[in-house]
Amino acid sequence: MKPILIVEDEAIMRESLQDWLTDGGYEVESASQGDEALKAIEEQDFGLLILDLRLPGTDGLEVLRKARERQPKLNGIIITAYPSVQTAVDAMKEGVIDYLPKPFDLNELEKLISQTLGPVQVEIRPKTVTCVIDDREVEVPQGTTILEAARNIGIDIPTLCHHEKLAPYGACRLCMVEIIRGQRSRLVTSCVYLVEDGLVVKTESEPVVKIRKMLLELMWARAPGVQPLVNYGMRYGISGLETQGNSVLGGASKTKFEVEPTFCILCGLCVRYCAEVKGKNAIGFIGRGTEREVVFFPEIASKECANCKECFAICPTGALPSHYALVETDASK
Ligand code: SF4
Ligand code: FES
Repeated sequence: MKPILIVEDEAIMRESLQDWLTDGGYEVESASQGDEALKAIEEQDFGLLILDLRLPGTDGLEVLRKARERQPKLNGIIITAYPSVQTAVDAMKEGVIDYLPKPFDLNELEKLISQTLGPVQVEIRPKTVTCVIDDREVEVPQGTTILEAARNIGIDIPTLCHHEKLAPYGACRLCMVEIIRGQRSRLVTSCVYLVEDGLVVKTESEPVVKIRKMLLELMWARAPGVQPLVNYGMRYGISGLETQGNSVLGGASKTKFEVEPTFCILCGLCVRYCAEVKGKNAIGFIGRGTEREVVFFPEIASKECANCKECFAICPTGALPSHYALVETDASK
């Protein structure tokens, strides 16, 4: 089977997708820019391209067009955080297999991939896998994430973007753990990383704690004083955060990160809940990088949200009522 090439400039999305598909048995390469992808396509044949629509330099559709000059039957799936009718039509005219607005259901993506490339040829896989988490041996059904396996034996890995009803997303990275194979160790996102036979996992090692502290400080700068961050700040003994508590709500950040407090940590729970559980897509992300934010789409939200508001309860920062108030204000004009 030819490999898959993921072309995505957002590192978190690119790495999570690559890890997830690799764990599913696919051979996967990745590129963060269109030109880098085209260079890879010059050097090797791919079975499928998964392309972010908006990329720095050459956009996703242009990459597909150019790639097909070399490999005419190459298949492509477009993913985008900025869906529109026009780009969907352009993508379909280009003959892509599908056009998936983010966040999308990973199982749906896997179905498309398997229909395109055929099922992964796996010899005889054992039905269970065994790993060691914090010195305890754990046997779990194949397909179990490290986070689930750890929770099965009572190990509490911190999470901010995980929800049992939603597909794993890997946004907050707070669930990072260290995995060790032989002499090599690396940090992986435990809510998306599947347990493998023989894996050794450390959930509170020095590098893990260091990165969690840094992530918490960054999130604290965006959402100072919100309760889950106060709790985790205390758990990790982050100097200053544990004593500030709710008294800094609305106040300036005391961390080293110079970020405007928006009280949204971009965990995507609201966006995914509305898309995956409610099937409404009344709320979504707009903007990139530091400009990225969550908005209600007034044309849908004004019809769907008044009697729902279920996302309010799952938002870890309580940011949504103020976002939604803008919809109500607009509607009353
Ligand atoms: S509004 Fe709340 S639930 Fe939505 S992305 Fe921001 S922090 Fe997460
Ligand atoms: S990235 Fe795993 S819980 Fe957020």
